Amino acid sequence: NRPIGVAVLGLGNVGSEVVRILLEHADELHARVGAPVVLRGVAVRRTGVERGIAADLLTTDAAALVVRDDVDIVVEVIGGIEPPRALILSALNAGKSVVTANKALLADYTGELAEAAERNRADLYFEASVAGAIPVIRPLMQSLAGDRVNRVVGIVNGTTNFILSAMEETDADYQVALSQAQQLGYAEADPTADVEGYDAAAKAAILASLAFHTRVTAADVYREGITGVSAEDFETAAAFDCTVKLLAMCERLVDPASGNERISVRVYPALIPRKHPLAAVSGAFNAVVVEAEAAGRLMFYGQGAGGAPTASAVLGDLVMAARNKVYEGRGPGESAYAQLPIAPIGDT
Ligand code: HSE
Repeated sequence: NRPIGVAVLGLGNVGSEVVRILLEHADELHARVGAPVVLRGVAVRRTGVERGIAADLLTTDAAALVVRDDVDIVVEVIGGIEPPRALILSALNAGKSVVTANKALLADYTGELAEAAERNRADLYFEASVAGAIPVIRPLMQSLAGDRVNRVVGIVNGTTNFILSAMEETDADYQVALSQAQQLGYAEADPTADVEGYDAAAKAAILASLAFHTRVTAADVYREGITGVSAEDFETAAAFDCTVKLLAMCERLVDPASGNERISVRVYPALIPRKHPLAAVSGAFNAVVVEAEAAGRLMFYGQGAGGAPTASAVLGDLVMAARNKVYEGRGPGESAYAQLPIAPIGDT
């Protein structure tokens, strides 16, 4: 099969890991996709900086890169609304498939982007936008597509979970735990997006939109961060055998009088019983619990942030998008299952 060309936009923590794995695992990816997956270019803010990547792959002209004839799939890991929105629309309108990790963009523009993808018969994948490495978008969109999801509740921000865990474990005040998170590189110098719940609200909007097949934007999400949580709150929680977690709560609620349904999406620090599975999620980890009518309760747990875990989700999407290009959406093809020269145990 002809090679599948990939353009990567952004070379931060996630972009560098995506590029590294693309280059180092090229043979395996080739086998799984059924065609060579070839890096055509990487858009960066400025060139001339040593990045361990062949200089002729780097460009500052992302707009030209995304529409190049030899590019089939665009991976956007820049973050923020613009220029990613314009670049993704331009790529989709040129028939390229797009993989993005951009939660802020998706929270508000999924409709516009999905419509552009559909119109151009292109793929738009965004597993990495919520909870890093943890598969949660695909389960909601595909595995549970025939079920009826009633609730999604999760810890979807690693930074605040790290801070709350540190407060609980060391009886520290919020400010002390925040400084520790900053020193360890979890929290940004300006931690507002995490600690005020904006990051979790964007992720909650994406989860609720998929879970309930409706359009929820970040502005629809009730949001309360963790800056008001005190050491005393943990003492009170402990007295009730509870802990405090920043939850993203997406629920389908039925008004008992009218029978009408509405969707409630909230991000807030909540008291949860220690025996609840989410209480055991500590440090920078994420977890998402999905409750569906037929499936019952499912729980997804793992690393929700960081370059490599997020790159894992991006690459999974990339393999899907590439297979769709190779097999024209008919499914993964035989090569997805049987190309690696590993003998089964017992085979001599
Ligand atoms: N700042 C985010 C977090 C990164 O702490 O979870 C992943 O979206």
